[in-house]
This record gives sequence, C-alpha cells and structure tokens, in this order.
Amino acid sequence: MLTVPDERPVVAALREALPPGALRTGEEIPARNAQDWSGLPPVRPLALLLPTSTEEVSAALRICHAHEQPVVPQGGLTGLSGGAHPVEACVALSLERMSGVEEVDAAAATLTALAGTPLERVHEAAEAAGFSCGIDLGARGSCSIGGNIATNAGGNTVLRYGMARQNVRGLEVVLPDGTVVRSLNKLIKNNAGFDWTQLFIGSEGTLGVVTRVVLGLHPRVADRAAAMCAVPDFGTALRVLRRLEAMLPGRLLAFEAMWDDFWHYATVLAGVPAPMPLTAPLALLIEVSRAAGEEDVLENALGTLFEEGLLADAVISKSEAERRAFWAVRESPAEYPRILPGLLPFDVSVPLADMEAAVAELRAVLAARWPGATAVFYGHVADSNLHLVVGPAPDGRSPKGVLEDELYAVVARYGGSVSAEHGIGLLKRAYLPLSRQPEELALMATIKRALDPRNILNPGKVL
Ligand code: FAD
Ligand code: LAC
Ligand code: ZN
Repeated sequence: MLTVPDERPVVAALREALPPGALRTGEEIPARNAQDWSGLPPVRPLALLLPTSTEEVSAALRICHAHEQPVVPQGGLTGLSGGAHPVEACVALSLERMSGVEEVDAAAATLTALAGTPLERVHEAAEAAGFSCGIDLGARGSCSIGGNIATNAGGNTVLRYGMARQNVRGLEVVLPDGTVVRSLNKLIKNNAGFDWTQLFIGSEGTLGVVTRVVLGLHPRVADRAAAMCAVPDFGTALRVLRRLEAMLPGRLLAFEAMWDDFWHYATVLAGVPAPMPLTAPLALLIEVSRAAGEEDVLENALGTLFEEGLLADAVISKSEAERRAFWAVRESPAEYPRILPGLLPFDVSVPLADMEAAVAELRAVLAARWPGATAVFYGHVADSNLHLVVGPAPDGRSPKGVLEDELYAVVARYGGSVSAEHGIGLLKRAYLPLSRQPEELALMATIKRALDPRNILNPGKVL
C-alpha cells in the first residue's frame, strides 16, 4: 500500500480502497477539474477521484460519508451555473472514466450508457441503430449524459422531444452513503411505487451520483432542412412559430431566436460566416424533419409566410453543409471564454406573451448599469427560454451583484424562472426564492436532509 506522509485520513482511506489511477492529489490534478464554465475563479480540490465502475463510486462515497468529506460530482464540466465547480477542500468525483454505450435495445427503443459518456457518443450510437436521441445541446461534444440528467438539460430539440426528464426511462444512482439504487427500467408504463429516479433528474449532484442511464429513443430523423429567417419583432416570431406548427404538424425540430446583438457577436466577434446579411432586428433558425418526397416542405411553408407578410428575409439550406453553416452561427457560444472572458450568463424563462417587453426592460437595466458592455440576447424561445450573456464592462468595472439583482427582478415580475435549463448551482442560489415558494424550498431541504443527512454531496449548491 502506498502511504503519503501527512495525508488527510480521508485521502489515505480513499487511496487504500481504490485501485491505482482512481485517485489523484496535488499537482497530479489537471487544471480543468478546478473549474467549470461558470466563470468562477478556479478552486483546486483536495483530491480527484476517477472511478471506473459503480462499485468504485460506492466505495469512495462510503469513505467520504464516514469522514463527512464534501464531494463534488463532475461530468463534462460544461455547466454554466457552477454546479460542478469545486468547493474549498472538497474531493472532486469525475465520471469521465465511466464512459461507453452499453446497449441499444431496438425492440424497446432504449439506450443504456454509463454516466460519463459524452452526449455526442450517445447520439452516434442511437443513429447507428436507426434512432435519434431526444437530448441535444451545443455542448454535446464535451458534456456527459450523467451531467445532462443531473441538470435536466434540454436545448435545441426540446419543442419536439422535451427536456432530459422526458427522455429518461431508468437510472442507477449511488447515494451519499455509498448505497447503490438501481432501476434500469425500459418500460414506458411502470407505476409500481414511487418513481424515485425523477428526484435525481435536475438535482445537480446534490442527492446522489448518477452512474448509469436508460434513455428512451425516437425514430431516426433521416432528412432535415433548416432556414435562417429575419423578422421585425418577437410578436412576428411567435406568429411564425404558431403558423409553422399548424402547417407542418410534428415536423418542427428547432426554433431558435437570435437578436441582432447576438448576430453581431457570432458573425463579427466570433467570425462565423454570416449566411445572409441580417436586415431586421431578429434572426430565426428553424429546422424541420422531412419524409421522402417532401423536399420542398419548408420552402412551401416559408413561401406562405412571405405571402402573409411575416418574413422580412429567409434563406433555406440546399445542402447538409449549408444546414451546418446555419447552426455554426447559433453554436458560436462555444467561443464565449475567448471573446467574453469572465462572462455573466443568464438563462431565464419568460412567458412568451411578455418576451418582447421583458427583453426591452432587461436592455434598459443593462444600459443603465453596465453601459457599453457586450450583451447578447438569444434563446430556445419556443420553450420560453431566453439566454442573455453579458461580457466584461468596457471600463473594467464589474457591478455583477447589482446587475443580477435588477435583471432577475425583471424576470420575477413577469412570473418567469431564474433558470430555464442550466440549473441553480452556485451562481443563482440567492435568486432561487424568486422562482419558488417558501414551502417548496422547505420541501427541497427536507428531501436533501433525508438523502444526504451529513450534507457531503455538493454542499452549498442549489439550496
Ligand atoms: P457538469 O458541468 O460537469 O455538471 C453539471 C452539474 O451536474 C453539476 O452540479 C454536477 O455536480 C452534476 N453532475 C455531473 N455529472 C453528474 C453525475 N454523473 N451524477 C450526479 N451529478 C452530476 N444546457 C442546456 O440545458 N441546454 C443547452 O442548450 C445548453 N447549451 C450549452 C452550450 C454551451 C456552449 C455550453 C458550454 C453549455 C451549454 N449548456 C446547455 C449547459 C451544460 O452543457 C449542461 O448543463 C450540461 O447538461 C452539463 O453537463 P456536464 O456533463 O458538462 O456537467
Ligand atoms: C445555449 C446555451 C448557453 O443555448 O445554453 O447556447
Ligand atoms: Zn441553451
């Protein structure tokens, strides 16, 4: 057994219980595990755990529980709320070595994967078997399916397939005391008692560590077409959405809005080639699935919308390369760390009827509090989800607290949510009461105490 002088007892116990390679300390811990995408300053954990099996996760948590040692679960570290960000003197538990799709069950239309599997690998396995995965987001190359479940993620295709929650059939989870609970359920209908798996979806690593996931799959989308459109205002964007839903029932895959400030960021600051000059305040990226013989389905629908006076401009993808080029504009947030270092991300929901007014009020707060700062408005607006990302102020001031207070107050006034998809983590903890009743917060605290009485799992996150 390797012993290290003056090592904390919990680390010594972990070193003894886990195989070589599953524990790193000091300089052996890669810099990437000291932070996520939240923009918070790096914190080096006491130790990094890299288990390769559920049994190793269980053994590690049993030891941490006995030593009352804080543990921070980490997936792909793409979270924007600080959920996977290390807390002082924590042990980080990364699922990155628990990666792989274990099974695609074509009869049940399900896929079983280890929690550390990158979402893109899940997509590839589903496609290869003739299915589509219903969870999709821009971070798909780096985020993990376990992180997606822990954050109840959902991005581009939520309007068609729902959030992560709607795509999960079963889970394997390790509780904070090391107990393994397993329901690798594939059945669509299973009302045998409480569906405890739901508790862990969106709990941001505070209740248990997800180790295995069973997803329900969807029929493979064989052919898709995209259009980039320009509209004069959000009210028109909404009319376009409702008309397309009526004209092309079941066909819409994505409906993304990008205000002109986002367009400028993407096509000028991030340098993504613009598919067209944007001559109106709002761009829409629309994607539909097509069946054989339906090659013109999007063109015809947009033609009708032109006749109805709803579109200022539009281009339709004529090839897969063009479709990808449209998405490159929308996926330019991958460049945030380079272009907007120390970014302040907002990820809110606002009732659709109030979106235009809320955006105007948010802009007014920004102009008053942080004049001249780069701010980009965009979002998966069919889901009432608005993203606002604010870069550093030109004068170097950083009135983040004041700005957050005032921006979230606008969202609360419209009855919106302070987190549509990224979760609460560390960044939004103070604002959670704006979106939840005191009784709801008390119930969340009761659930947390019941599952994690020693408060070792992701302490200080969410609640
Ligand atoms: P991490 O960042 O590592 O962790 C996130 C949270 O989950 C933390 O609280 C962590 O403790 C917990 N966690 C991670 N793995 C586990 C596990 N196995 N068991 C228990 N807890 C765990 N999100 C969206 O919802 N929709 C989007 O459209 C979207 N687009 C994005 C685009 C970009 C460019 C970026 C950078 C991020 C985007 N996100 C989006 C946010 C982020 O990608 C998601 O929250 C994603 O689900 C996080 O997965 P991850 O594996 O990186 O998790
Ligand atoms: C997006 C992330 C930031 O949709 O959620 O770009
Ligand atoms: Zn998003």
